[in-house]
Amino acid sequence: MKQAARDAVFAKVEAASKIEDPLAFFPLFKKYDRNGLNLQIECKRVLSLNSSTVDWAYELTRDNMMYFYTQVDWVWNDKEKMEQFKDERAFYLLAYDANSTPVAFCLFRFSVDYGNEVIYCYELQLERQVQRKGLGKFLMQILQLIANRTEMRKVIVPVFRQNTGAYRFFREALQFDIDVYSPSTFSTYGNSSIHEILSRQTKFGEAVGLACYGDPCYCCD
Ligand SMILES: CC(C)(COP(=O)(O)OP(=O)(O)OC[C@H]1O[C@@H](n2cnc3c(N)ncnc32)[C@H](O)[C@@H]1OP(=O)(O)O)[C@@H](O)C(=O)NCCC(=O)NCCS
Repeated sequence: MKQAARDAVFAKVEAASKIEDPLAFFPLFKKYDRNGLNLQIECKRVLSLNSSTVDWAYELTRDNMMYFYTQVDWVWNDKEKMEQFKDERAFYLLAYDANSTPVAFCLFRFSVDYGNEVIYCYELQLERQVQRKGLGKFLMQILQLIANRTEMRKVIVPVFRQNTGAYRFFREALQFDIDVYSPSTFSTYGNSSIHEILSRQTKFGEAVGLACYGDPCYCCD
């Protein structure tokens, strides 16, 4: 992989990470008024969010996901998880109800993954009362639009295999693929992997034949 091409990938990710409000490109998507919901959508960097919103997002994630952690015998590490939620590269796509109470969020970063510039979606979490009303799909559509606009190659999301609802949501309703770098594609894990990395390409598609220089690098370290 040529240094110039590598530098270009990192430069693109860095430029995207500096955009103050990626949702500003899509003003029509700042409202979700369907299926009995009337919500305001906004996109903010973590540094512009108040800490109570980050705490709410964290608690919601723990409530929604703890069951799956116990099912697969993974330890929920408060410190590591909170670091992810507060990482200064983090963006939050948030949905607020009429009382300005947050009811759903998507936590993402622009990132380099195995040589590809991507949007990595760390969390998509909805309060129970707003689930199955098309909101999750809407938020992921926004992410796909932002990925296209910033010339990322794909949107990536990790999903527990045991989380069959989310798995069907991504694979069937949103037509995400099993990513080429998902654990199940490696013979060591195969069908025994606990989670899958799912992805959906943008119109810029996946680059082929790139040497790995992910951050962190999972294949070389
Ligand atoms: C999974 C989640 C993000 C989906 O968002 P959502 O707004 O509830 O889903 P949508 O209404 O947009 O669903 C779109 C389609 O996806 C599929 N789908 C969504 N949730 C599903 C479920 N639990 N089981 C099966 N299919 C599901 C359906 O085809 C659905 O269309 P339909 O309702 O017309 O049948 C949301 O339910 C959630 O936050 N769950 C708890 C946390 C979680 O598991 N997050 C994902 C971590 S990877």
